[in-house]
Amino acid sequence: MVKKILMICLGNICRSPIAEAVMQDTIEKAGVAKDWEVDSAGIGDWHAGNSPDYRALNIMKNHGLKYSNHARQIRNIDFEQFDYIFGMDDENMDDLNRLAPKGSKAKLLMLGNFGLDKKDRIIKDPYYLKGEAAFEKAYQQCVVACDAFFKEVQAGKI
Ligand code: 4NP
Repeated sequence: MVKKILMICLGNICRSPIAEAVMQDTIEKAGVAKDWEVDSAGIGDWHAGNSPDYRALNIMKNHGLKYSNHARQIRNIDFEQFDYIFGMDDENMDDLNRLAPKGSKAKLLMLGNFGLDKKDRIIKDPYYLKGEAAFEKAYQQCVVACDAFFKEVQAGKI
């Protein structure tokens, strides 16, 4: 059975597309791409149908990651169809826990709880900040966290 991961942030144009691309890359590098599917979505629908913010696309391109997905809002059925749903910050986790239908299958996890120092575990919203530094920071956090999560999965810990 293919396992499914959904990356969530507020708008689905900055952090979660980066997290999606990084997780896909992590899985491909582990040689198990056929066993996994990765997608992303937003808590809100403001950017539905749009490509990621140009700064997120630049960061992915700088790191050799391809990306062609478009933003969409999270749906009730996602909580049943995905095995792991990741939020980027505490607000995302509050929203996910509020939106999840009772008894749904998905594990709701904060991405930064894997592999990152406690003080660094929030993947902060970079949308309203000038420039690309906050996007690069989000990318670096995603690389560490996706690798740490995936090692835990492969060790059967989660
Ligand atoms: P993201 O960033 O949640 O990382 O995609 C945001 C993008 C857009 C908005 C907020 C956050 N917005 O309010 O439009």
